[in-house]
Amino acid sequence: MRVNSLKVKNFRNYSELEVEFDCKRNIIIGENAQGKTNLIEAIYLCAFARSFRTSNSTDLIKIGEENCNVSVEAVSEDIDKKISITINNRGKKMIKKDNKFLGRTAELLNNLVVVVFSPDDLRIIKDSPEKRRNFIDKEISQLRPSYFEALRNYKDVLKQKNSLIKQLRAPGSESKMRDMLEIYDMQLAKYGSEIIKIRREFVEMLSEKASKIQNNISKGRENLEIKYVESVAAENILDEIINSRERDIYNGHCSIGPHRDDLDFYINGIDAKKFGSQGQQRTVALSLKLAEIQLAEMILGENAVLLLDDVLSELDRERQSYLLNEIEDVQLFLTSTEVNSELLHGMKEGKVFNVKSGSLV
Ligand SMILES: Nc1ncnc2c1ncn2[C@@H]1O[C@H](COP(=O)(O)OP(=O)(O)OP(=O)(O)O)[C@@H](O)[C@H]1O
Ligand SMILES: [Mg+2]
Repeated sequence: MRVNSLKVKNFRNYSELEVEFDCKRNIIIGENAQGKTNLIEAIYLCAFARSFRTSNSTDLIKIGEENCNVSVEAVSEDIDKKISITINNRGKKMIKKDNKFLGRTAELLNNLVVVVFSPDDLRIIKDSPEKRRNFIDKEISQLRPSYFEALRNYKDVLKQKNSLIKQLRAPGSESKMRDMLEIYDMQLAKYGSEIIKIRREFVEMLSEKASKIQNNISKGRENLEIKYVESVAAENILDEIINSRERDIYNGHCSIGPHRDDLDFYINGIDAKKFGSQGQQRTVALSLKLAEIQLAEMILGENAVLLLDDVLSELDRERQSYLLNEIEDVQLFLTSTEVNSELLHGMKEGKVFNVKSGSLV
């Protein structure tokens, strides 16, 4: 899979830009705050119809403008695809593929599969469970758009149930509301168990791949195991939701389900969240990203596009070269504030772009 070209209009600090990329290596160089990450974000937007930096889509529109548009020409499965995303100042998104409107984000996912790796990802082991859930959710959604639908339905019902629960806390609430609760619980159990089962399967595959990579990077010293921590087993979810009903009404939110799940990481059997050194935790993050790429290749039969935002400077030389060697056949976009001469020297093919104040020079 690769991105051949990108066109943006009024996106972040870019007024207008048209650029053709190399099919292998694209190095984006510039000082701070010039628009390097914005370029990566524009490509990402065409894969997910959302940003990896903000959930507020109007932030993406250039300040003072009414709307923005980003489009890419990409190739996957040897088929040319044109993807275009327009966002207006009310936050409404219009997604087009090959000049046809797509009604649902799920139809977009899978057309352009990207793996982004930024300094934030290096902290995934230490970060909140929510960040780790987001990580697996995004990854699975790209590879299996039906998962994205289940997740969206689950989140919608959860929101409605939480708001109903708050109303039920008021004295004398009607029994009709209780009937609604029954319906929500059935739906949560249905979507929830689907989500848990797919996550289980995915984390198992991810763990297997990441473990091999961690083993290589650590020269056989570290055995990594990733475990999916289910707050409730898919098999008992409805019973557990019903059992926790009164407690949830008392607390004002729904406490059981995949929205409370997490990932655990063990290095040689020891919990890496609690006891891993910073270096070990970074290696786990790197192993995870490389495993993501391998999984995409296994499931889709072709490589994802890799977006490395400012991450090389955070890795030591050994891990840098491991990363760059491992991704020989992957189209790469890499941002950096300085030209790393060794890196450029080692690059057989590729293009270097210099970014200054929202223009490529
Ligand atoms: N909606 C927007 N409209 C106009 N300018 C914006 C908008 N959003 C962000 N910017 C500007 O874009 C610039 C930041 O771009 P970006 O995050 O791509 O920088 P960068 O080159 O990656 O920098 P760093 O090296 O610090 O990561 C800032 O100057 C910021 O003010
Ligand atoms: Mg940046």
